[in-house]
Amino acid sequence: MDNELKKKKQRFSDSFYNNITYIGVGLSLFVLLCELFLFAIDFASPKSSIYLGLLTYVFLPPFLIVGLILIPIGASLKRGRLLRGSKEGKPKPIVIDLSLATHQNAVVIFMIGTVTLLVMTAIGSYRAFNYTESTQFCGLTCHQIMKPEYDTHNHSPHERVRCVECHVGSGANWYLRYKVAGTKMLVKTFDGRYQRPTPAPLNTLRPAKEICEQCHWPGKPFSAILLNKVYYADDPSQTPPWRINLLMRVGNGKNGEAGIHAHMYFNNEIFYVADDAKRQHISWVKTVDKSGKVTIYTSKNSPYKKVNPPQDKIRRMDCIDCHNRAAHRFEAPDVLMNRALAQGKISPSIPMIKSEGVEVLGDKYNSTSQAEKQIRSKLTDYYKQKYFAYYTKNRPAVEQAVEEITLLYEQNFFPEMKSRWDDYPDNIGHMISRGCFRCHDNEHKSADGKVIERKCTLCHIIVEQGSGTAVQKSINGLEFQHPFYDDDSWKTTNCSDCHTGG
Ligand code: HEC
Ligand code: HEC
Ligand code: HEC
Ligand code: HEC
Ligand code: HEC
Ligand code: HEC
Repeated sequence: MDNELKKKKQRFSDSFYNNITYIGVGLSLFVLLCELFLFAIDFASPKSSIYLGLLTYVFLPPFLIVGLILIPIGASLKRGRLLRGSKEGKPKPIVIDLSLATHQNAVVIFMIGTVTLLVMTAIGSYRAFNYTESTQFCGLTCHQIMKPEYDTHNHSPHERVRCVECHVGSGANWYLRYKVAGTKMLVKTFDGRYQRPTPAPLNTLRPAKEICEQCHWPGKPFSAILLNKVYYADDPSQTPPWRINLLMRVGNGKNGEAGIHAHMYFNNEIFYVADDAKRQHISWVKTVDKSGKVTIYTSKNSPYKKVNPPQDKIRRMDCIDCHNRAAHRFEAPDVLMNRALAQGKISPSIPMIKSEGVEVLGDKYNSTSQAEKQIRSKLTDYYKQKYFAYYTKNRPAVEQAVEEITLLYEQNFFPEMKSRWDDYPDNIGHMISRGCFRCHDNEHKSADGKVIERKCTLCHIIVEQGSGTAVQKSINGLEFQHPFYDDDSWKTTNCSDCHTGG
């Protein structure tokens, strides 16, 4: 009789009353409440946070699903037990009888649950998709590994361009490929089996046509760009800075004018073969002009003077062959110091500050915190010992310089990942790495005697140069004068053979 009464009060059939189902219900209700709460916070806050996103869209949803699965598992185990206990022993087919209140309740709950889950899944997966495509997700999930690229991206011209726009691009195929690669990388962060520094993705990056050219139209007519460069001697307090204003001939050759963007997009297609993994040594270059005429240039010691290179080594030159560091530039100590002095962030009246700055930035350290400590103490000790009188009189200026140099270090050097300028050659110029001079060195020659020129006026003209009051100006271009070093070797030696940036 008691049993009968209890049965009357039961809202669901017997099978649902078991511990596994209770755990399932408890777990899913708990996770559901948490999720609703987190959803609300995520929608309300204007900027999404990395940890909130990870919790809401990556970690919690699987627990909700586990909870929901436990409910029917518990019920079917219980049903099996009940049947074995009953006289019939044979499993009955499941019959839904809507005239029974217990069945009505189960069906209503099931329907409400399913609809809620579907709606939440739809919203959740949309949010999860957006979230895993965000710069924060790519840059911060694996903290240490991505820090160098995340930080350098954050002060590059592409700061507002999301990582996935260059590293994934459009299309489901690439999306999957990169998510699989990303997941593998995530696993590696846990056991520390990753390369330091992260190699540049030269062979896995999509061609520029599918990424860069989605935003930058190669047909855009470019005019010349004026670059202002300022250089300080080792001891900036001795000499006024040296200025060089270069007019870069970026033009794309549309209206008949020659220019940097012209030679490959409108007049030519260029193919090349590099002998090393970083593509710094180019031994074979082929151009195909508009009329289909082919010219092959080979370097002095090229292995391809008589034989053609294998097809899979040949690459078609595109934006990334020059603008390879457009999003992640690790600047060299020399460049950083010149810039900070020119911007007045470091006072040029401090004796020897340029060469001391270049030296402490170029030294190797084990960690960022060790570097900060050592940079501070090395510089302070130097001025206390060598320039005590100057130091006591100008302490604030020296301290500001020390702080600035420490900051420059943090933004451009990542000892935990061993990432710094000399690991990632920038191909846009030719002073610190060979860049344009990888081909334009007067040494790449064709069978009929053509050379890829290193003529100083091919790519830019110098419209202003000199220091102090001795500044030369000419809109027709000036012959380069080597700052602080009166020597003609630059005419025949590559700049990067002497200038390493450190
Ligand atoms: C404008 C396009 C662009 C954007 C945006 C971009 N990258 Fe890159 N990234 C590149 C290119 C191009 C390279 C290859 C550099 C080379 O060949 O030297 C690269 C290289 C890398 C590398 C390999 C190591 C290296 O420095 O060469 C990592 C890791 C990386 N990017 C991560 C990121 C992350 C994380 C973000 C977002 C915070 C991001 N990238 C945003 C274009 C981009
Ligand atoms: C999602 C769009 C987008 C993609 C993809 C993209 N860029 Fe950009 N790029 C921009 C924007 C926006 C700027 C900044 C324009 C400005 O502020 O002047 C920019 C600026 C540049 C500049 C000028 C840099 C400077 O010093 O001012 C270069 C060079 C460049 N991009 C090259 C590339 C290359 C190479 C790639 C492919 C690896 C690429 N971009 C991919 C949007 C994009
Ligand atoms: C042969 C090398 C080379 C190639 C290939 C090349 N560029 Fe450039 N590009 C340059 C140089 C050099 C400049 C001048 C600015 C500089 O020196 O930083 C420049 C300038 C630019 C600028 C303007 C920067 C500014 O400050 O206004 C953009 C944008 C740009 N390139 C995008 C592209 C895109 C997109 C592609 C591929 C379709 C491409 N470039 C291919 C060498 C190249
Ligand atoms: C892979 C080899 C290679 C690299 C690297 C390279 N170039 Fe070139 N460049 C060539 C070849 C080959 C020609 C000759 C095309 C011709 O005359 O048919 C050329 C021609 C030129 C021209 C003359 C275009 C004209 O109007 O006649 C300019 C300007 C130029 N390159 C600029 C640059 C700059 C700037 C860089 C570096 C950022 C650079 N190139 C890097 C192969 C290269
Ligand atoms: C193939 C094209 C090309 C040729 C040839 C060339 N340059 Fe340049 N030069 C560049 C580019 C590209 C830059 C980088 C501009 C930038 O900083 O974005 C540059 C930068 C420079 C700078 C500034 C260096 C810096 O990074 O501060 C000087 C100085 C210079 N060139 C002098 C010369 C001299 C001298 C010659 C002749 C021996 C020469 N260039 C030949 C393309 C060329
Ligand atoms: C034989 C070695 C050598 C060659 C080759 C060479 N330089 Fe220099 N360069 C020097 C020395 C030494 C100094 C003076 C010391 C210093 O300030 O770095 C210097 C100084 C400079 C400076 C000013 C200092 C600074 O802040 O970096 C610039 C700019 C420069 N060189 C550009 C070039 C360019 C561009 C080329 C190639 C066309 C070139 N150099 C080739 C040795 C060389």
